[in-house]
Amino acid sequence: MLKKKVEEILVNQIEKEAYSSNLYLAMAVWADTNGYEGTANWLYAQAEEERLHMMKFIKYVNERGGKAIIPSVEQPPSEYKDIKAVFAKVYEHEQYVTELISGIVGVCLEEKDFTTHNWIQWFVTEQIEEEASVAAINDKLRLLGDHNLYMFDRDIMGMRGQVPASSE
Ligand code: FEO
Repeated sequence: MLKKKVEEILVNQIEKEAYSSNLYLAMAVWADTNGYEGTANWLYAQAEEERLHMMKFIKYVNERGGKAIIPSVEQPPSEYKDIKAVFAKVYEHEQYVTELISGIVGVCLEEKDFTTHNWIQWFVTEQIEEEASVAAINDKLRLLGDHNLYMFDRDIMGMRGQVPASSE
């Protein structure tokens, strides 16, 4: 059975993951409608991943005797200056999510919920990977300067597989 404080912070994270998914979806739409097919592909796949993260929180809360709340989600920005601005924002957002996950780890320790502490480690590792993959993209963009964005877009196209039709 989840303690109240643990349940609250996990339910809070459902909204954060839902927002992350919609944020990347909005960025994907921006890329898709500005001719960056590869970038859109990457972002659509990222949005699906965030939805899966949200589902993990929902299912875990229910499984442990809590009740997941499906949140309303704030509308993410739909306009971006350029690709660099998009990926700078992705990196900033992932760093924010890493802080949130660390906050959950902290509550688990305070409440001595070692089961949830163990479960959340998957997200701790996931955040290391997410930050690293976005940092690598930002490095590529820095090396390219303002040129060759077409090449960048082709390049990133191969970084993810096909976007799954559904995350179910
Ligand atoms: Fe759900 Fe990108 O962290």
